[in-house]
Amino acid sequence: MFKSKAGQRWQTWMLMLLSLLLAPTMRVSAQTPPGNDPGSQKLFNMEMGPNRSIFRPSHDPARTANGLAKTPPMGWNSWNKFGCNIDEKTVRAVADAMAASGMRDAGYQYVVIDDCWQGKRDADGNILPDPAKFPSGIKALADYVHSKGLKFGIYSDAGSMTCGRRLGSQGHEYQDALAYARWGVDYLKYDWCYTGTRNSEEAYALMADALRSTGRDIVFSICDWGVSRPTMVDKSMPWEWGEKIGNLWRTTEDIYDAWAGRKGTSLGMVNILDLTEPLYAYAGPGHWNDPDMLEIGNGGMSDVEYHAQFSLWAMIAAPLIAGNDISQMSDATRAILLNRDVIAVDQDSLGHAGHRVRKDGDLEVWSRPLADGGRAVVLFNRSERPADITANWTDLGFPANVALKVRDLWAHKSLGSVTGHFTAKVAPHGVVMIRLGQ
Ligand code: GLA
Repeated sequence: MFKSKAGQRWQTWMLMLLSLLLAPTMRVSAQTPPGNDPGSQKLFNMEMGPNRSIFRPSHDPARTANGLAKTPPMGWNSWNKFGCNIDEKTVRAVADAMAASGMRDAGYQYVVIDDCWQGKRDADGNILPDPAKFPSGIKALADYVHSKGLKFGIYSDAGSMTCGRRLGSQGHEYQDALAYARWGVDYLKYDWCYTGTRNSEEAYALMADALRSTGRDIVFSICDWGVSRPTMVDKSMPWEWGEKIGNLWRTTEDIYDAWAGRKGTSLGMVNILDLTEPLYAYAGPGHWNDPDMLEIGNGGMSDVEYHAQFSLWAMIAAPLIAGNDISQMSDATRAILLNRDVIAVDQDSLGHAGHRVRKDGDLEVWSRPLADGGRAVVLFNRSERPADITANWTDLGFPANVALKVRDLWAHKSLGSVTGHFTAKVAPHGVVMIRLGQ
């Protein structure tokens, strides 16, 4: 039925009047929580809160992470060496080499495929691997990795796309978590590209819940780098909330295989070290600072510098995730990655991250308290010349007159009992790493 023009105008006026009369009530009901029970309060905060940051899963006193990774995760990840050039053949070869080279037996557990394994979603929205690179499917690959006595990890992103512009998990969190669990995934690295206006804590909590709901133990690696990027709404600091949500969080943007510097959004090794060091108090059993993966064996730094990366990553209780081609390792690379004395420091059960206790220009002393009451100590020479560096007991929290046994963790020998301080000559860009105890 058609109305006359006058009738239509009258109807419009009536609707406007009605909405003016009702507006205050509508506003009030939109701002009033729907009920007094905590569940609806949470829903209100999540959906209606004037400030997105009101929804803070980490403020829930009952929330805990998954109880995994009591010591920093150890393993291998495809990104640093292979980038998007990754396929099932390469992953199988790495898994073989992890078992054959002694890496697995030294504690490197997780074989993690980073970005670019993804293909399309099927008609029901299930994520599928790229059929050209992973023709046998992810489940078969995970089974193979497990058959070598290793664990299997995978990568996704909280946004619509991954950083390599493959499909992300946004809007498919529970579906993807279920797929991972069915495939036998033990570790998820979850990245932060193409996330638009999402709130980081909320996005990571959602995926953490999805992983928990599968009933499978899956270590959760939060790959929010703790920086602002032009595409992001605000700077997130995952170390502020990560403990209740995941097991490790990135402290910086990506590492690249260089001693120092910046290349695009990537940082050299010492730049990352310096940004991570002040965060040491956030680390602890089950929740670790992640200064990104190891570059040892990738060729951009000297072996002396790679000794420094391994030692300092162990000092700050970083995850030890090798990033080289394990099937083609040199003896020098193997000797670094398989140094069990240094690995023992990284994996120390106290879970107390170390930090810098003295800095004289380019000469530094780092200290990490250990479960046996002793200390791991690194003398670090950033300069271009060999230098003597001294660690004073008093800088390490010991009385000056106490005698302590010294073990050199790279020379693999005991240096006897020493009182008051320890001095050693350190190569340029190098370290001397010792363990002190009774
Ligand atoms: C980001 C991450 C890297 C890597 C790439 C993959 O840059 O920080 O570690 O996963 O994405 O595209």
